[in-house]
Amino acid sequence: MIAIGCDHGGYALKQEIIEHLKDRGLDYKDYGCYSTEAVDYPVYAKAVANAIVSGECEKGILICGTGLGISLAANKVKGIRAAVCSEPFTAKMARAHNNCNILAFGARVVGADLAKMIVDTWLDTEFEG
Ligand code: RB5
Repeated sequence: MIAIGCDHGGYALKQEIIEHLKDRGLDYKDYGCYSTEAVDYPVYAKAVANAIVSGECEKGILICGTGLGISLAANKVKGIRAAVCSEPFTAKMARAHNNCNILAFGARVVGADLAKMIVDTWLDTEFEG
């Protein structure tokens, strides 16, 4: 199960990523937010982070304007390794070398097609140990 969350800056891209996960037949749980109305990103960062540390979900995806605020907030939760990735090479290394359990990116930084490529690379790469 993949946990996904965003703030208002990431809402539209989150919806596109959810469609992409559905197209791939992957199970996900949407922790919000659910509109472009302004919200506080730590709320959604913590919801996704807690879903992972509780074992409810294995991995998470977080989206805000830059990916920075929401990843910094998630990294305050013990057991979370969130990485901001704006291209596939970093996404691959974040899994292979850093075993990161949350992928973050910015909707004001990457377009939808690049974001989907980053998501696919991250999901399809195993930690090398
Ligand atoms: C919201 O305007 C924006 O600050 C937020 O999405 C994010 O980019 C913060 O790091």
